[in-house]
Amino acid sequence: MSRKRILFDTDPGVDDAMALLLALASPELEVVGVTTVFGNSTVEATTRNALNLLHFAGRTDIPVARGAARPMVLPLDRTAEHVHGEDAMGNIGWHALLHPDLKPIDRPAAQFIAATIMAHPGEITLVAVGPLTNVALALQLEPRLVHAVREVVIMGGTVSTPGNVSPVAEANLYADPHAAAVVFNAGLPLTMVGLDVTMQVKMDDSHFARLRQAGRFGQFVAQIVPFYQEAHRRRYGYPNGQIDTHDPSAMAYAIAPSLFAGERWSMTVVTDGPARGMTIADRRRRFLNTPAAYCLMHVDAPRVAQLITERLAAAGA
Ligand code: RIB
Ligand code: CA
Repeated sequence: MSRKRILFDTDPGVDDAMALLLALASPELEVVGVTTVFGNSTVEATTRNALNLLHFAGRTDIPVARGAARPMVLPLDRTAEHVHGEDAMGNIGWHALLHPDLKPIDRPAAQFIAATIMAHPGEITLVAVGPLTNVALALQLEPRLVHAVREVVIMGGTVSTPGNVSPVAEANLYADPHAAAVVFNAGLPLTMVGLDVTMQVKMDDSHFARLRQAGRFGQFVAQIVPFYQEAHRRRYGYPNGQIDTHDPSAMAYAIAPSLFAGERWSMTVVTDGPARGMTIADRRRRFLNTPAAYCLMHVDAPRVAQLITERLAAAGA
């Protein structure tokens, strides 16, 4: 089986950590690099967490490139330690690097993304699960990325599910709506794994009890998730330790696309005002002539939750 080559752009983050470990645990994928961005915390913290996660996983061979510290146009006005913990890793005390030798490569994320994709035309799938700043900056550096990238899979946006940081906006697109607009307008082979599917795929105490008894990856996820579970209980009143599986669901799509279905619609992103970060899909196919994205709307939710759990449980056993 030839493995899908993944560049992972991320703001770890509890669910980002789950997605990265899921990728590393999946034989269908080869992670060729990790790029970091502000979002769930500062880029200093998300870069530290990415480096620590790869160290924990025994995969320091995978390069980490540090990316944007703030949105392209707006000031940095929101991080999400209230959801992911002070260390953005569920308050497990990751306030420093786990090893003094850990460090990002010298190239900034946008340059690394552009160079990696252009060096392997048609081969790289970019999975982006944070604000889209690095991806937009890479497109500005190298517009030919549009034709050189195999697919861009983003966790972000929503077609018909209410927003999670405003009535209409999903957090990653709200965080840098101007970057999101660049990405959606570029004409990329773009798949949107938005709240329409990621809020259908729940994991709960039954999944995490299994992971607690499993191999190293599973035990680690069981360790970082309680703070995130509590944030979901506070925000949505979810029972039984339920969480939404935003970033791992996006990675699950890269692993097993047949578990999802969607539609291609012309899209636009609102950059300002009360609808900041809103993704508008032309579901009647008659009002917009902007580039289309493949928007996932349906998912076999139990099977995706099972895939995530089984892969994490088996890894590092
Ligand atoms: O809206 C969910 C997204 O926001 C996820 O990527 C999560 O990690 C946060 O960044
Ligand atoms: Ca994320």
